[in-house]
Amino acid sequence: SAASEFVVVANRLPVDLEKLPDGTTRWKRSPGGLVTALEPILRGKSGAWVGWPGVPDTDLGPIVEDGIELHPVRLSAQEVADYYEGFSNATLWPLYHDVIVKPVYDRTWWNAYVKVNRRFAEATSEAAAEGATVWIQDYQLQLVPKMLRMLRPDLTIGFFLHIPFPPVELFMQMPWRTEIVEGLLGADLIGFHLPGGAQNFLYLARRLAGQPTSRGNVGVRSKLGVVQVGFRNVRVGAFPISIDSGKLDELSRTKAIRDRAKQIRKELGNPRKIMLGVDRLDYTKGIDVRLNAIRELLEEGRMDPADNVMVQLATPSRERVESYIQMRGDIEQQVGRINGEFGQVGRPVVHYLHRPIPREELVAFFVASDVMLVTPLRDGMNLVAKEYVACRSDLGGALLLSEFTGAAAELRQAYLTNPHDLDDVKDAMVEALEQEKEDGRRRMRGLRRQVLAHDVDRWAKSFLSALARDSVAGAALL
Ligand code: G6P
Repeated sequence: SAASEFVVVANRLPVDLEKLPDGTTRWKRSPGGLVTALEPILRGKSGAWVGWPGVPDTDLGPIVEDGIELHPVRLSAQEVADYYEGFSNATLWPLYHDVIVKPVYDRTWWNAYVKVNRRFAEATSEAAAEGATVWIQDYQLQLVPKMLRMLRPDLTIGFFLHIPFPPVELFMQMPWRTEIVEGLLGADLIGFHLPGGAQNFLYLARRLAGQPTSRGNVGVRSKLGVVQVGFRNVRVGAFPISIDSGKLDELSRTKAIRDRAKQIRKELGNPRKIMLGVDRLDYTKGIDVRLNAIRELLEEGRMDPADNVMVQLATPSRERVESYIQMRGDIEQQVGRINGEFGQVGRPVVHYLHRPIPREELVAFFVASDVMLVTPLRDGMNLVAKEYVACRSDLGGALLLSEFTGAAAELRQAYLTNPHDLDDVKDAMVEALEQEKEDGRRRMRGLRRQVLAHDVDRWAKSFLSALARDSVAGAALL
């Protein structure tokens, strides 16, 4: 039944199948910013979502969950290892995040990536009605646009990359760089967070897909924002993603959240200042950077352990990938070292939780904290920074934000910092902790104006209306 006029395709379904110890299963919300951003949009459009249910070897037919038609794609345990943990998260993820960790190039992983991308293209082809609009998401599925176009030339195909698109010099490391660029060029519109990513891609499209290669010349010509592939125009543009700001703002004002925020402060011993980090446990997030900054400030006597606490909420992520296992050990050692040297019995300086945290509880932590620490070494956008701002209708709090996030392009009134410059991070941290109340309110007011005006709905509409427009208008996108 090829019925859906609008289909989202992402590696993960918006819900994860969870296998309970007693052998039964239940659905729970998937981690990460992508799902957070897209779920509300699809709910309003009664479309379909093609994705992996998060557990290997599960055979499921289409199911309707919360008004969304879910089309589960089956992955074997070996495919999870090679396509998801391997090529997606030990090759593409580090390569696209400035090689913070060395990418591994493995032919077996690449073959699995091709095979799984084809399976996603086939599942999408079955779910999409004649002439439907399909919106493919993120780095795990970069070959799907071309594969899908070959199966279904009637479809309108959009692609959005939720992570940074790397500098040309780094992308050129990729042994399968031409295949990836050509895969993306199967779309009608390719979206990035920032103009810089779009520029990098345009340059590569010209350089790689435009030249005769052993695999054949696809004859690409590109001008600003448009790549011509044969007779087709592929548009390329920047669409910075956002959050459901209004809903978060509303939630943060409720009595239940306010009460819980007060209680959190009390549970932490009513410290003068609370610093907060909220991240998937990922080496791109610079959790080590903020811990190092805090340790040095404590050592130098610029931060008083009796006055300040830090809370780090870390969602478990990609726990079988080597670099994640190692980073978890490093961070837990750093936390232990700080508490060992500066904590008191019953009063640690750093409170660290490694587990998924319910949404309401996160919001209460946002409301309870004085300084939000967002210090990634590289991040496509970072929705946590925007969520924090949306939750501060009281105009309290301060946002410490890495310049190496996409969000920094919009959130100019944050305390911006270079995470590679530890002295700069320390100074910015002290500044944020000591900010004058009026200065803080002025900054937060400006940040909130930005975040409330540019919500996820606006993001999706601007991408989808660009996708629906003809290609001439697309030249102005960049
Ligand atoms: C980032 C990526 C998403 C991904 C999410 C969670 O936000 O851009 O594509 O879904 O992280 O990671 P995971 O590997 O658990 O899906």
